[in-house]
Amino acid sequence: MDIRIYGDESRLNGDAADIVGEALRGGPASAIGLCTGMTPVGLYRELVRRRAKGEISFADATVCNLDEYIGLTPDDPNGFRAFMRKRLLDEVDLPPERFFIPDGSAPDPEDECRRFDAVLDGIGRRRLQVVGIGGNGHVGFNEPDDSLPYGTRVVRLSDRTVQTNAAYFDPPDRIPRRAITMGIGSILDADRLLLIALGKEKAEAVAGALAGPITARLPGSLLRLHPRLTVLLDREAASLLPERLKADAGLARAIRPRIEDGFDETSRQ
Ligand code: F6R
Repeated sequence: MDIRIYGDESRLNGDAADIVGEALRGGPASAIGLCTGMTPVGLYRELVRRRAKGEISFADATVCNLDEYIGLTPDDPNGFRAFMRKRLLDEVDLPPERFFIPDGSAPDPEDECRRFDAVLDGIGRRRLQVVGIGGNGHVGFNEPDDSLPYGTRVVRLSDRTVQTNAAYFDPPDRIPRRAITMGIGSILDADRLLLIALGKEKAEAVAGALAGPITARLPGSLLRLHPRLTVLLDREAASLLPERLKADAGLARAIRPRIEDGFDETSRQ
């Protein structure tokens, strides 16, 4: 696990964009997984900026997203598809037919889960999956539970998640209580995971996920099962981490210049 802690959010977003850029350059038909929410907004802004300067391209990429509310039409401005179009996809050169997200308006959500699993199988190897974390530790919409299935599934959102996300809904009381989410198993299938967390509201979930027991009761902790997990945190999100992890983060920062000199990052994991 590579944990990096930042005082400056623009540097964090720059490093996150470097990681996405590296995945995009991974070869033809590079598939990457992205997420929605407030956390990746700065990253997407940086990706749009880099695309405009010709530094990166999505022309050969495939993008799949984690989740969508049930009951919203694909063009509903509150939906995650609309979010992705507005924040990223309308501004970059990804061919529209190579963007995949569960369809929350499908007549049978269970069938839609199977369809989305087939999509994930079809696009093959995902070089990177970017995730955020909820204040209750959820990843995608995998809410804390006794056990978490592997594949895409229908979930009932927790009261806390509904309350938090209603703030971004117009009108807030229209927020659906159910969603379709990629399963934790499929998230872990990606070659590399990038977890980003910002703000003190995430500090408890981040500390539990990175330093507590690995349990479905805190889905973020399951990310530690992945051999190649990079975690980018601002100081507030990192504030409750045990000192030993903060010390590791300092060490990772100290050796990073060697990576830029051609040090093979994979050998460090
Ligand atoms: C959304 C998603 C969620 C968010 C999480 C954090 O696609 O996967 O798990 O990452 O709810 O949301 P923000 O970034 O709004 O704090």
